[in-house]
Amino acid sequence: MRLSAFLLPFWYPILSRRALEKIDSGELHKIIIDDKPFVVYKKTRTSEYVVHSDICPHQGASFAATGWLNKHDNLHCGYHGFEFCDGRFCRIPDPVRSPPAFESRVALPVYPTTLLSDFLYFRPAGDAVVPPVFFPEEEFDPDFVSIDGSCEMNKDYRWVCENLLDMMHISYVHSFGNKKQPLPEKIRTERLGEHGFRARFEYHPADDTISTKVGRAPVVVVENEYHLPTNTITRVFAGDIVKTVFTRTIPVSSKKSILYWKIYRNFWVDPYFPLFTEIGSALTRFLMERTIREDKWILSKTYDEAREGVLRSRYDTTIDHFRADMKKYETKKNNLLLSQKRDEPNDPPVDHRHQRVVFPDPDILFL
Ligand code: FES
Ligand SMILES: [Fe+2]
Repeated sequence: MRLSAFLLPFWYPILSRRALEKIDSGELHKIIIDDKPFVVYKKTRTSEYVVHSDICPHQGASFAATGWLNKHDNLHCGYHGFEFCDGRFCRIPDPVRSPPAFESRVALPVYPTTLLSDFLYFRPAGDAVVPPVFFPEEEFDPDFVSIDGSCEMNKDYRWVCENLLDMMHISYVHSFGNKKQPLPEKIRTERLGEHGFRARFEYHPADDTISTKVGRAPVVVVENEYHLPTNTITRVFAGDIVKTVFTRTIPVSSKKSILYWKIYRNFWVDPYFPLFTEIGSALTRFLMERTIREDKWILSKTYDEAREGVLRSRYDTTIDHFRADMKKYETKKNNLLLSQKRDEPNDPPVDHRHQRVVFPDPDILFL
C-alpha cells in the first residue's frame, strides 16, 4: 500500500498564533503547503484571513513577494498592478479614469480557514464537512503545565508522523531508550473514533531517565496515538507523573515539514515557587531538543522510497493503522476529485474575442 502526498479532507495547521502577528499588522505572507505556494493575508475590515494560491494568474508573479492590499482589502499584484477581490480578478487600476470593478471568471479558489487557540488552520477547498481540529485532554487540565516549540524536519510529513508512532525505535535511537530490554510489552490497541488509534504498552526505560529518577518507576506505561491528519500523542505514565508529548506537523513538501510540539507535564511544577517550575520547563525543553536531534538523525539515515518495506512486525501496528486510515481518506479524496471532474465541461473555456484559451490551473483544481 503506497500513500500519495496530497492533502486529505481535514483541517491542516498553517501558521502558529505567533507567526500570525505580522499578518495581523497587514503584511502579505507566503507559505508553502504540499509543495504549493499560498499567500495569506487578513482583511482589516472583516478580520477574515484569506488563503489562496500565491501565483498571479496573469504572468505568474508572487503576490506575497510583490503585492499589496488596498483600502478595500483587495489584493494587487506587484508586476502589473492587477487587482483581485477574494482571489477574483476585478480591476486593472487606472487612477485617471477610475473604472468600476468587474467580475472576471478568472478566480483563484479561496481556501476556508479557522482560527483556534494555537494555529490558523486551512482545509482543502471543496470538502464541505471536515472533522473538528483535535486537542489533547491535557490542554484543558489545570494540573498540567506546558511548553512548546517547533522545528523543520527534512522529510515528508507522513514519515515524521510515522516516526512519532514508532514504538520500537525508542530503544535504539533515543538516549532514554533501553537497549538491554528493547521490546514494548503488553501491547493493547484501541480505535479512537473514526480518525484516531491508540497503542498502549509497557516499557522499561533506561536507568537515568525522568521516569526512573523522578517517577521512580522501573516500568512505564506508554500511550501512543494519532488523530488524523497529523496529530500524534505520546503519553508516558511513570508512577504518579505524566508527561505528554503532543505534535502537529505541517506538510511543506515531499522533502520538508514543520513539526510543532507541545509537552504537558504534571511534575516539576510548584505554584508557590515559580522558579522551580521554570527550571523544570528549561530541563524539559533541553531533553525534548535532544530527542528531536536524535529523531532528525535517524530520519536522515532512511531511504524515502523504501519507507513502506515488505517486512512488518507486530510492533508496527500503530504505523500500519495510520497508513490504512490515511489510505482510506486518500480514496475518499480521489472519489471526490473524480466526481468534480465528471461535473466539469469537457473543453476548457475559450475566450473568442482574443482567440485565447483560458485553462483552469490544474494545481489549483487539484486541491
Ligand atoms: S503577473 Fe500579476 S498582474 Fe501581471
Ligand atoms: Fe523518536
